[in-house]
Amino acid sequence: MKNIVLIGFMGSGKSTLGKYLAKKYNMKQIDTDWYIENKYNMAISDIFNEYGETRFREMETECINDLINDNGKYIVSVGGGLPVKEVNRPLLKKLGFVVYLKATVDTLEKRLSGDTKRPLLQGGSLRDKITNLMEQRETIYEEVADLIVNTDNKKFEEIEELIKAGM
Ligand code: S3P
Repeated sequence: MKNIVLIGFMGSGKSTLGKYLAKKYNMKQIDTDWYIENKYNMAISDIFNEYGETRFREMETECINDLINDNGKYIVSVGGGLPVKEVNRPLLKKLGFVVYLKATVDTLEKRLSGDTKRPLLQGGSLRDKITNLMEQRETIYEEVADLIVNTDNKKFEEIEELIKAGM
């Protein structure tokens, strides 16, 4: 089976679904944020603070290249901003079958309220931040995806069925 690559906005459930799929298919789970935090032994928020977002985005590209060069079988959950950098989009396709986990702004806002770990969501109106970033990112997510799944009110089992049928 190909690697499965989960993309989507922060809070869209990539890591939790990734865990479910990894168990179901007996594959390893990798989350690009965890990978980077381990590799550099730093929290994402510290990387943003000390090195800035541009350097973090380079680390994301390195991460995807590392995974392409590793022949393991993975469920990869991808940081919400990674597909925005154009060079990463063909790399994601090369890495595996790309699934966009789509969620409404209402759902994302509920899931992300109180978050303190994501640098791009701190300060100001959470809803405005989600809406603005979504406007910039939605078409990118849709373009890079091999499959788009509306996740609102869907159980993991149903999402997994859709992915299996779409692959
Ligand atoms: C980001 C998403 C985060 C993390 C960083 C930036 C983004 O990952 O990579 O805070 O730009 O959307 P999750 O999508 O796993 O929250």
